[in-house]
Amino acid sequence: MSYHHQPSITTPLTGSATFLVLAHQPSSPLDRIRKTLADIDGLAKNIAIRDIRSDFACTVGIGADIWDRLTTTTNPTTGQTSSICRRPPELKPLPVLRGAVHATVSTPGDLLFHIRSHRRDLCFEFERQLLKALGDSVRVVDATVGFRYFDARDLLGFVDGTANPVGERAVVNAAVLGEGDVDGLDGEIEGGIGGGYVVVQKYLHNLDAWNALSTEEQEGIIGRTKFDNVELDDAEEGQRSHKTLTTIEDEEGNEHEIVRDNMPFGSPAGGEYGTYFIGYSKRLWVIERMLERMFVGFPEGKHDRILDFSTPVTGTTFFVPPVETLQGLGG
Ligand code: HEM
Repeated sequence: MSYHHQPSITTPLTGSATFLVLAHQPSSPLDRIRKTLADIDGLAKNIAIRDIRSDFACTVGIGADIWDRLTTTTNPTTGQTSSICRRPPELKPLPVLRGAVHATVSTPGDLLFHIRSHRRDLCFEFERQLLKALGDSVRVVDATVGFRYFDARDLLGFVDGTANPVGERAVVNAAVLGEGDVDGLDGEIEGGIGGGYVVVQKYLHNLDAWNALSTEEQEGIIGRTKFDNVELDDAEEGQRSHKTLTTIEDEEGNEHEIVRDNMPFGSPAGGEYGTYFIGYSKRLWVIERMLERMFVGFPEGKHDRILDFSTPVTGTTFFVPPVETLQGLGG
């Protein structure tokens, strides 16, 4: 059997997005969630057709705690259990990474819906129909609405997303597990081929403190110039920039990229300014290593200075299964 990744993983940056994290209501049977996920492609098509130029897409992630329960079904007559897809090898909750000054948080979440379009109304309508289909089988843990800010800038004022791999390179090298990436294949039940991991973190910024820095200081923290987005040289020692801390190489010197689709969110009236970080990777350890270098620091103690102005209030890991696994949930 061949597996296909959710095509939405490589949707180009859109003007609007909703990041919806849900938790299963334990009193409710899992079948309603299974059925909704199995039909998700149809639901997305209902919305996308309303304006084909709006790049509507939805990517579904399944959390570490619910994975086994959701993908294992029991035959009511024989009592026999069967698994739709083997557990992805690295899937586990996001660890709490504690540095001397800053720490990640690890917050609950069974399902992630990364809903994207140039049109806010299409994201809204999909969310409405989705929540109606899921009914009381879930509760909302977090729903964040992001918007594209000028020329893809975050609220710190920097262009965000530049170094992202694109097209085939994003899929094959960065975000989606291929056959060669999974050891010990076991017949038809694969360990996540065609899928990948995704980590989300919702950051709140202290913009007054950030804006009190000079542009040069800000540029040193990010590792790029602010106005024209030119990459600065990496520091060889001491304090590293965000760009350097999030560049990951393995023992053989191979660089491991991830696919990001960060979005600003917030409300000037409510005094809330944030960045919703979302990173897709076929290797969960790559994102965890980035977080370790940011929070614990590299060298240890020299944390990412972006964190002195940005606090994570959520943090959750999910697995984005291939289309065939989602469809298989329908029985
Ligand atoms: C690069 C902003 C959190 C991973 C960048 C850049 C900006 C930025 C402005 C430079 C332009 C670009 O290549 O996109 C932010 C903000 C964050 C945040 C505002 C939250 C407050 C994170 C987190 C991770 C991450 C949590 C990973 C766990 C990366 C990577 C790059 C990058 C991989 C590209 C590095 C390279 O040049 O190869 N980020 N980021 N970022 N960031 Fe972040």
